[in-house]
Amino acid sequence: MSKHPHVQQEIKRELRNNEIISTTDLALDLPDKLIYVDYVMKEVLRMAPIIDCTIRTLLKDDEFNGVKVRKDKNHNPYTLGIFGSGHRACAGQDLARLELKTIVTQLMQYVTFVDRGEEKNSDGKLQGLMTAPKHIGVYIRFD
Ligand code: HEM
Repeated sequence: MSKHPHVQQEIKRELRNNEIISTTDLALDLPDKLIYVDYVMKEVLRMAPIIDCTIRTLLKDDEFNGVKVRKDKNHNPYTLGIFGSGHRACAGQDLARLELKTIVTQLMQYVTFVDRGEEKNSDGKLQGLMTAPKHIGVYIRFD
């Protein structure tokens, strides 16, 4: 978000439009109202998935909804959704989305993230089970 200040401004505008100006305004129906925050979360998770692998293994070549999947080769990396899919998809995805939305909403009420430039955000990512940036540098400006 620090790299895209206009996105933060748009989130803040959405919060204002929904009259969310303090943490006590957070209500259970909030997630359904914040459409733009939803777009941002989906795009962030798509561009920088927290988990970018799968532990599922095919036992044989197969086909799902017209998409061919092969046991050993030719996997298209873009077929992997951020929370998986089908009946073994992430069981906690609704909770995770609610948590993320609440965190983004709370932070955006008080601060703006400011990018510290290429050098402080260099060297790509750390790859374990989870994926995270190797270095991350942002200033936090209190609004
Ligand atoms: C942003 C946060 C999260 C991400 C990116 C994430 C991602 C994933 C992924 C990719 C899978 C594998 C799905 C598949 O094989 O198709 C998974 C499975 C699972 N996740 Fe999450 N997850 C998140 C948060 C959570 C939370 C908060 C919970 C529980 C409260 C949770 C519970 C589970 C469970 C139980 C499974 C196994 C489902 C099964 O095999 O039937 N996850 N998650």
